[in-house]
Amino acid sequence: MNRSMVTFPVADLNPTECYKLTTGLVIPRPIGWIGSYGTDGVANLAPYSFFQAVATNPPVVIFSTGVAKGVVKDSLANVRDSGVFTANMVDHDLSVAMNATAAEVPPSVDEFGLAGLTVKDYGSVAAPGVAEAKAVLECRVVDEKVFGSDPTLNHAVTFGEVVAFHIADEVLDGTRIDAAAVDAVGRLAGTMYATTREQFSLDRPG
Ligand SMILES: Cc1cc2nc3c(=O)[nH]c(=O)nc-3n(C[C@H](O)[C@H](O)[C@H](O)COP(=O)(O)O)c2cc1C
Repeated sequence: MNRSMVTFPVADLNPTECYKLTTGLVIPRPIGWIGSYGTDGVANLAPYSFFQAVATNPPVVIFSTGVAKGVVKDSLANVRDSGVFTANMVDHDLSVAMNATAAEVPPSVDEFGLAGLTVKDYGSVAAPGVAEAKAVLECRVVDEKVFGSDPTLNHAVTFGEVVAFHIADEVLDGTRIDAAAVDAVGRLAGTMYATTREQFSLDRPG
């Protein structure tokens, strides 16, 4: 196929252009709704679409925080201090509440309250879960890697080992997850999202 392609060497792009191309192309991104406690005990909740599962034995997930001009977001500050977090799954019914928790508010504001959500402490780690979520992963921080040395924007990737999965009955069939029942949403670029409502199957070759 001779598709007409446009090449963007990264060396010629500014940080905003890199952001737009990366987040526009790597889609849909799952959303980790990261729950943590501040040192003052205030519950914190925020969505991170630089979120992914990167290992299963042990299970490890990552989320990545943009650190702009040295300003460390509350989730990253909290997990650096506490060493633990929850990753709550965002389903379609929770997407408006998820978006509300992205508000840039001071650490003294509890985003659970802001979005009308309920804190549920599952007890394996000292981090708040979202009671309304269909699945909550309790995680302990096992590593952090920083990418970039530009003080205007770099990224800190937090690696969390999952110590407990909490999963609603309604999405479980034994240890199999019913993806339709999970009804997860994914993030596209900017304010756009995708559902997982249209699915298809492919048999593996061989
Ligand atoms: C769907 C969605 C995904 C987001 N993903 C990220 C992300 O991956 N990394 C990031 O630094 N900010 C991300 N944000 C922005 C943060 O949620 C926002 O800055 C939030 O206020 C951070 O809260 P905190 O300071 O309580 O951690 C995202 C926002 C939305 C709505």
